[in-house]
Amino acid sequence: MTASYRVFVTRVLPGEGFAELRKDPAFDLDVWPVDFPPTREELLQHVAGVDGLVCLITDAIDAAVLDAAGEQLKVVSQMAVGVDNVDVAACSARGIPVGNTPGVLTETTADMAWALILSSARRVVEAAEYVKAGQWQTWTPTQMAGVDVFGSTLGVIGFGAIGQAIARRAQGFGMRVLCWNRTSRPDEAAAVGAEQCDFDDLLSQSDFVCVSIALTDDTRNLIDARAFELMQPGAILVNTARGPIVDEEALVDALRGGAIAGAGLDVTAVEPLSMDSPLLQMNNVVVLPHIGSASLATRSKMADMAVANLRAGLAGEALPHAVSPAVGSR
Ligand code: GLV
Repeated sequence: MTASYRVFVTRVLPGEGFAELRKDPAFDLDVWPVDFPPTREELLQHVAGVDGLVCLITDAIDAAVLDAAGEQLKVVSQMAVGVDNVDVAACSARGIPVGNTPGVLTETTADMAWALILSSARRVVEAAEYVKAGQWQTWTPTQMAGVDVFGSTLGVIGFGAIGQAIARRAQGFGMRVLCWNRTSRPDEAAAVGAEQCDFDDLLSQSDFVCVSIALTDDTRNLIDARAFELMQPGAILVNTARGPIVDEEALVDALRGGAIAGAGLDVTAVEPLSMDSPLLQMNNVVVLPHIGSASLATRSKMADMAVANLRAGLAGEALPHAVSPAVGSR
């Protein structure tokens, strides 16, 4: 049987859906075989003439990529919930739907936000490194003493599904939970015992400020020098969303100057974070390599959703999970 759909997949994906796609004679798959993403030139070459594109957060899918693909491109399917690397407006202008993978990663990502809250507060990474370095000589009353999470105040910036899941977990820690969202979410806040709050008040009252908002033009550098000035000197910033939501230079200044006490970052402004970054010299900062949704089960579910979106888009059907339905479908 002749393959009817040409598809470029920018990395080898986990999960059953992808394994089946690979065996399906209806698809002529070009799978980027290595862990490093295709370069811009390689991306432009490999998309030429494809009917479908499956991409990751590391791939910049803009108008030039869509033009290089050509008019037959029917769907862009991203294996992630965030799509800030995809020019969704350019896709819509060409009638190309964009799929993403919401829902399945909510709890896994909220777990990671909590891993960062706890490890920053209780100096877990620093203490483990101390042991490995052979510095554990005795027990002292203040050795590796951190701050309490239990009974403190958590501020959640962005109250979508992940923000709500982060807030829900705080109940078990007896915390006061404040939340801020661009549009009011009273029912969602009430459901998890959170108080909706003004942005500035959230910053000034929270012991832990957790960023869980999509990156858009409006949220870029949302946490800037002014925000750090409002925060408490003992506060810890946690970001499991996107790096550019935090002004990283202002963060470094805030940590150096004592405007805040620490940070737990799963994401950075540029990824991977440069080894020259001052953040890597600071004991009160935990940086992870963007692994919020990285459980094998969740990543497999995300890949399955991306494949389901791809299949639907190619068949001219509504995507099960569309960021933007096609405007004038092809
Ligand atoms: C990961 O960062 C995602 O947006 O799914």
